[in-house]
Amino acid sequence: MIETILWKNNCARLIDQTKLPGKLEYIDCKDVETLCGAIKRLSVRGAPALGIAAGFGVLLGIKEFSGKDRRLFNAHIEQVCATIGASRPTAVNLFYALERMLRVLEQFPHDTVPQICARLKNEAMAMFNEDQQVCRKMGNYGAKLIRNGGTYMTVCNAGALATADYGTALGVFYAAKEAKKDFKVFSLETRPLLQGARLTVWELMQNNIDVTLICDNMAAAVMKKYKIDAIFTGADRIASNGDSANKIGTYMLAVLAKYHKIPFYIVAPESTFDLSIKNGTEIPIEERSADEVRSFAGCQSAPAKVKVYNPAFDVTDQKLITGIVTEKGIIRKPFKENIRKTFIK
Ligand code: MRU
Repeated sequence: MIETILWKNNCARLIDQTKLPGKLEYIDCKDVETLCGAIKRLSVRGAPALGIAAGFGVLLGIKEFSGKDRRLFNAHIEQVCATIGASRPTAVNLFYALERMLRVLEQFPHDTVPQICARLKNEAMAMFNEDQQVCRKMGNYGAKLIRNGGTYMTVCNAGALATADYGTALGVFYAAKEAKKDFKVFSLETRPLLQGARLTVWELMQNNIDVTLICDNMAAAVMKKYKIDAIFTGADRIASNGDSANKIGTYMLAVLAKYHKIPFYIVAPESTFDLSIKNGTEIPIEERSADEVRSFAGCQSAPAKVKVYNPAFDVTDQKLITGIVTEKGIIRKPFKENIRKTFIK
């Protein structure tokens, strides 16, 4: 699988996803500011990858501190976490990672600065390694839902480009392919930034998965014309009751799936669950620049001054979700109870 993000030579190295599929270029982020810029413009994106980037961002922050005073060091790292936390609001994986880094500071108050730096590095690398393992586990659980000869649908990119391994929703397809199943995938292009067209299609084609690109507004017609066996998407934040935020358009797909009686699955690791919130109304939804909608692939496609509403995510009501594939198995209804049982011992 392609390496989307890694820690190399004291830098966060990441694929500049804004350039795909035209160019495969890497950016070496040497400081927190460059990393936050990359997050904001979606050079690195996808909930699990944002978590890993946040952990690496803290390591970049360490390089910006000199001195031996632990109190000053803690204050500096807290500031770095606040800066990274202000980059994008919806994917809870980013905040989960920052919280884990801050917890290391709390747990070892008597460490010297070099000692605590080593622990922070271990924590960031642990999150990277854990993400690789959970992708494989989710993939294996999810692959059981794929039938030989089946046809599936996905939106946005929840693949290798969104994680440290082969992804969440797309990981299900990769695992099914490894299990020698033969199937087809429809990928929605995912306006306005085309993560489906630019990233998912590119990834699936590289891995010899039969993929057909459709515009977002073709989804209903495709569901009517072809037998779609199931829909798989990722998530950016899942509330305690199962309501799930994901790329704008996911809710639309789930509503259409209900009408067409198509099972609708979310695939996401534990780090995407936010058990501090009751339901989807509490999920902060990022709104992005109007220019993303006023233009298409870099060309102006609407009057320059037209009013625009550009939410980057929507929330799918848990009632519309058939199951949530996690590294601990597939969670089914009633979600509130079963999410608790899965994650709270
Ligand atoms: O705006 P993006 O590209 O970061 O949105 C990404 C998604 O919505 C993904 O589906 C989600 O983060 C899950 S990635 C495994």
